[in-house]
Amino acid sequence: MTAITHRQPTPTTDVLETPMEICWQFDYAIDVEKLRNLYAKAKEQQWNAERDLDWGVAIDPSKPIIDEAQFGFQALSVVRKLSKSQRESFTAHVAAHLLSQFLHGEQGALMTAAALTHAVPDYEAKLYAATQTMDEARHVEAYQRYIDKLAMIYPMSPGLKDLIDATLTANHWVKIAIGMNMIVEGLALAAFHNMRRQTTCGLLRRLTENVLRDEARHVAFGNVYVGEAIRDMHADEREDVAQFAFEAVKAMVDNQGGVDGRGKRRRDPGFGKVLAEVGIEPKDFLESLLEARKAGLEFERPPGQVHSFKDLMMPALVRVGAVTERARELYAAAQIPVFEDASVLESMENAATGAIDLDL
Ligand SMILES: [Fe+2]
Ligand SMILES: [Fe+2]
Repeated sequence: MTAITHRQPTPTTDVLETPMEICWQFDYAIDVEKLRNLYAKAKEQQWNAERDLDWGVAIDPSKPIIDEAQFGFQALSVVRKLSKSQRESFTAHVAAHLLSQFLHGEQGALMTAAALTHAVPDYEAKLYAATQTMDEARHVEAYQRYIDKLAMIYPMSPGLKDLIDATLTANHWVKIAIGMNMIVEGLALAAFHNMRRQTTCGLLRRLTENVLRDEARHVAFGNVYVGEAIRDMHADEREDVAQFAFEAVKAMVDNQGGVDGRGKRRRDPGFGKVLAEVGIEPKDFLESLLEARKAGLEFERPPGQVHSFKDLMMPALVRVGAVTERARELYAAAQIPVFEDASVLESMENAATGAIDLDL
């Protein structure tokens, strides 16, 4: 079958084909009360990225928008050798690279949320997924506006692109919810939480706080809805979902150089450009990383930072039953620990569902 595209592909488009089944639902009764609550909360908490943030503030793109003291790279000799202005430029470009990943990731989230709206079988889940689609559109808009002010944009990291592509082209909505609402949004929730603490820019802090509130609701959807669907599945189908989750986690861990980030990371041409901006050779950067590790200098997270894998992603997968007994053997063989403590995750979700104030 030939794909029909509205426009001819261009260097900025990338067309995927998906095997997804989409589903009408003519029973408009609401069975899942928690989903109704999430939908109600989502409607109340809609915000307008254009009107509700002060875009008039000036940003000096040559100055870091992240507090350098919170920045693990300062421990590297190759970075310490830079002049003050080069170091500032390096921090500014690393921040722009990270924010570019937020922007591209948000576009992926926009498309997965739209796919969920099509494919989920329940009426109230379609309503909820439609609100998530709007949330993600707003996030794309907000980060695009911010990056426009920085006037620096980097391409999407191949690891993030592959993870979201695998999610978008999955054949079942439960896999999409696992790939996006648990794995990618687990990553995003921690990254946003940490960015909110690290940034020195008031506009970026307020933007990120607003996004965080929405994202916590998206992660909560995974728990409220997906767990029940997985419990109701035939055992073979459940194993298929567990296999998908394992492969997505393994790909993410491999991209990041292992669970502790100490192994070989997947090459990211965009980050190569960041290094080139300040004249650091990738080879020297890697050597400096190894040297810092040998010297026992670790990239410890400052207190209060959230670890996406340990605190959000794995506990979310375990809680919904996406880590079966068979899958545990796969995780063990791949030396990926299965973290089960969902307390950090739950406190973020409670904030999203209104049980407590968002503790930022
Ligand atoms: Fe988002
Ligand atoms: Fe989201």
